Amino acid sequence: MPKKTVKQKQMNILGIETSCDETSVALLQLRIKNSKLRIGSGERTRVKESVAVPEYSVSIKKHFIATQIPIHARYGGVVPEVAARTHVAELVSLLNKTIKIKNQKSKIKKVDFDAVAVTRGPGLATALRVGLEGAKTLAWYYDKPLIPINHLEGHLASAWLVPGNRKHWKYPILFLLVSGGHSELVLMRDFGKYKILGRTRDDAAGEAFDKTAKLLGLEYPGGPKLSRLAMQGNPLAFDLPRPMLHDPSLDMSFSGLKTAVRVLLEKLKKDKQVYKIEDVCASIEAAIVDVLVFKTVKAALKFKPKAVAVVGGVSANALLRSELKLAVRESCPGARFLSPAKGLHTDNGAMIAAAGLWQMISRRKIKDWKKLDAEPDLDL
Ligand code: KG4
Ligand code: ZN
Repeated sequence: MPKKTVKQKQMNILGIETSCDETSVALLQLRIKNSKLRIGSGERTRVKESVAVPEYSVSIKKHFIATQIPIHARYGGVVPEVAARTHVAELVSLLNKTIKIKNQKSKIKKVDFDAVAVTRGPGLATALRVGLEGAKTLAWYYDKPLIPINHLEGHLASAWLVPGNRKHWKYPILFLLVSGGHSELVLMRDFGKYKILGRTRDDAAGEAFDKTAKLLGLEYPGGPKLSRLAMQGNPLAFDLPRPMLHDPSLDMSFSGLKTAVRVLLEKLKKDKQVYKIEDVCASIEAAIVDVLVFKTVKAALKFKPKAVAVVGGVSANALLRSELKLAVRESCPGARFLSPAKGLHTDNGAMIAAAGLWQMISRRKIKDWKKLDAEPDLDL
């Protein structure tokens, strides 16, 4: 009997993220079993084996995140020039930690990598350029391909990094992408194939958390602090608006909520009313979560996805994840609920490397890196 061979390909990819206030570098390893594709060769090749469904196994070999939050907290928000300078200081040391290893004789050896993925936008232009120039230097020096990544696609790919999620990665997948700058409902039909179903018309969900937290005197970024206080509060204590809930579109809006919180706090102060900050936090969190869950379920009922995923910094919110999971289970019983692993909700280099793997797997054409520049307003 002829011996059955299993084709297995392997590659290492570096991911670099500097779009806002986190400098992050990751090294990911991808193994593909039964691959029909010859990675990086630019052509499709057929295999003779009867099993042709590729199986992806991905491991995060190294991952470092240097947050600038304490630096920007002093200014009450991200200062682009300060962010860029801090990225310059952090990036080289993180890259050294990621691609240089010491062997037993304390000799420094370089880790092999096959490609460099870097965020090209959206984000702060000055901050993005630090990562891009660093990645270009690496690509030139080591003669490796440079893969420019859309930060938003990186967030989508963060859910794919969970092995259990990859098992249920069946299209279409409905994504609720909620971060500090974006709130979008995205239907994914394949790697690189996205349809925006709805988005915020003003503030992003993360912005709504941060701005209302600021009104309450919580330090930047207030989202995580507000949600921590909300755990001890009563979500029914204050009646806050759920904007655009009954609008027929899948769009959202959060700026009215911010105004309602400002008016509420002014009234409480004027009336010298004693209140618990935890109750205000819980009421704000409930209003934001209600809108996000309602719109996601509405999209799921219309587009019947095989899975519903929540990604982006706001997906770190435990109430949002649990409410959405419950709602998906009740209203779309056939759909799986997916979210990223702990620590990969907010900006990180591993998700950028993962999106780089998507580009390699789906054979998207990679632009000449010498022509690459930051694209602060890039859409998905
Ligand atoms: O994705 P991300 O790290 O950066 C952008 O791409 O914008 O998201 C950051 C946002 C911030 O607005 C932050 O307040 C929010 O995510 N965030 C949270 C929580 N953790 C982070 N919002 C609500 N609850 C949380 N636990
Ligand atoms: Zn982000």
